[in-house]
Amino acid sequence: MRARHAAYVTSAAAPARFPPEDRPEIAFTGRSNVGKSSLLNALVGVKGLARTSGTPGRTQLLHWFAVDPPKGPPLHFVDFPGYGYAKVPKSMRDAFGPLVDGYLQTRASLRLVIVIIDVRRGAEEDEVLFLQWLAQHDRATQVVLTKADKIPKSKRIPAAHAVQRALALPRAPILFSATTGDGSDDLWRVIGNSV
Ligand code: GTP
Ligand code: MG
Repeated sequence: MRARHAAYVTSAAAPARFPPEDRPEIAFTGRSNVGKSSLLNALVGVKGLARTSGTPGRTQLLHWFAVDPPKGPPLHFVDFPGYGYAKVPKSMRDAFGPLVDGYLQTRASLRLVIVIIDVRRGAEEDEVLFLQWLAQHDRATQVVLTKADKIPKSKRIPAAHAVQRALALPRAPILFSATTGDGSDDLWRVIGNSV
């Protein structure tokens, strides 16, 4: 499955610049360079829609896309900057933390926060803390393990179970690959159920 239509809307570094809350929103979050933008592009089926890069932490704005999903009402997908910016100076981290926190706490149209983790890295303290924080703010979440193509097939399900245990998730996370498109149908189903 892929989107029927997808188009860039706007980018914002301040709440005053956020677009109107006229569609249910899905946020794509995760550590820097984990593959957030690639996952978004693979899911909608449009190469280069969200900008990808080999330079971690370079996406420092929130980016909105208008997406008509395979089924259901029109949505906004929101591409996030990465957290855990090891290579970004602290001054820069402090400057965009409040933007992301503020969005996640107050955005009324936000329906689902997709938390993306590199399958090779698994869940670390950042993910534990981020998911706890989202739960405290009553946000629905879906954990996705991406870059699944980078590990052998036989190791994928065990990796998913390890992350499920580490994060005490009710269900196993979705295994995804932006390279092969694996996991897209599962993720579309979860998105469809969340709006
Ligand atoms: P920031 O916005 O900078 O935090 O990065 P991001 O999380 O949006 O990651 P991005 O999509 O830019 O991808 C980072 C790198 O990982 C790029 O070189 C991608 O080509 C690569 N990549 C992303 N997803 C996959 C995947 O599923 N499989 C493989 N093999 N490579 C991937
Ligand atoms: Mg990105």
